[in-house]
Amino acid sequence: MRILFVGDIFGRPGRQALRDWLPRFRSERDVDFVIANAENSAGGKGLTAEIAAELFDMGVDVLTGGNHSFAQRQDLDIFDADERILRPANLPEGTPGRGLGIYSAGEARVAVLNLMGRAFMKPIDCPFQAAKRLASEALAATPILFVDMHAEATSEKVALAVYLDGRATAVIGTHTHVPSADARVTEKGTAAITDVGMTGPFGGVIGVRAEIVLEQLIVGMPVRHEVAKDDVRVCAILIDLDAATGRARSATPLCIPDFIRERNAPPMPELKVQVHLWRRDEAGRTLFAILQRTPAKGELWQPITGKVDPGESPEIAALREAREETGVEARPDDLSPCLWVHPWSRDGREFAEHVFALRCDSADLALSGEHQAHAWLDLDNALARLEFEGNRQGLLKARDWIAARKSSP
Ligand SMILES: [Fe+2]
Ligand SMILES: [Fe+2]
Repeated sequence: MRILFVGDIFGRPGRQALRDWLPRFRSERDVDFVIANAENSAGGKGLTAEIAAELFDMGVDVLTGGNHSFAQRQDLDIFDADERILRPANLPEGTPGRGLGIYSAGEARVAVLNLMGRAFMKPIDCPFQAAKRLASEALAATPILFVDMHAEATSEKVALAVYLDGRATAVIGTHTHVPSADARVTEKGTAAITDVGMTGPFGGVIGVRAEIVLEQLIVGMPVRHEVAKDDVRVCAILIDLDAATGRARSATPLCIPDFIRERNAPPMPELKVQVHLWRRDEAGRTLFAILQRTPAKGELWQPITGKVDPGESPEIAALREAREETGVEARPDDLSPCLWVHPWSRDGREFAEHVFALRCDSADLALSGEHQAHAWLDLDNALARLEFEGNRQGLLKARDWIAARKSSP
């Protein structure tokens, strides 16, 4: 099972970036459940009913909060009215809403607990005492427990992850808006990261326009915060887990697009995939699917090809491109390992094309608008039909792999 946690969504730029990215990522990566921290989603502070509906509509299942949860006072009733909206559980009694929720995700149930730290923050009840009590309550209902620890101090967030080690599926830090580089899965199966980072504009100062923050810091006069606009990124963490035990298997932090770490460096090659779809006919011969592009694209014949999207591995991209271009719903087991990386360039752009073979049972393909025809051909005819040398070499790698696979026990 896969659960995605999205870091503090900041204002309209953060919401827009999430809308552009999440629906496709969710379906392509088979994400079962999405949790997002929404304390900054309305103009940088708080959450409104309208924005909560917008976030649910783009594929978020549960919204967590923090110190800014109640900044939009006109819409405070959403915290009592909607079980999918959480606020920190260790706020004083009488605060609107709840800090723990248990939700259905297919066959599984997912508990989400929202807590807030005390170091360098307003005084509130002890998050560790709250965690002790509420984790037990949650774990009585389901082994899957996600904790959003909204806190300023890294030490307090690390301490909570240690405190819940082996009990929580994931302890995810929010609030600082700066992603930390310590995503991990412990031996006891708890995934943790000190801060997942912000989904919003990194061009300002943690989401706010830089001039305003600098004025406040340098002169100390009161200012009105405004949402920055530049350098918008999605920060999230994808947790793969065993739904039966609630133990995490992997924690993959995502920053989309990734930060630029070197200026004026030669560009990294763009990742592509080349997928040779193959099947055996009734006589046991190996046939390869070759696709013909439309007249606008020169009617040339090629295998399945495409770009690797941000956050995708070449393997995932190969399965997605096969689905998009031919309608083939392949299992990961049908895909070969990467057989060759073909380097090529065009118009000053460098590409690294990862070559795969993909087994398919049916001869029927559902082509996308990119291609007008397809043919199932044996090796020699396929080689003769392919336009590019890189595709022919890729096909030979696929043939070699299929032959080796056949002869192995
Ligand atoms: Fe925040
Ligand atoms: Fe916060």
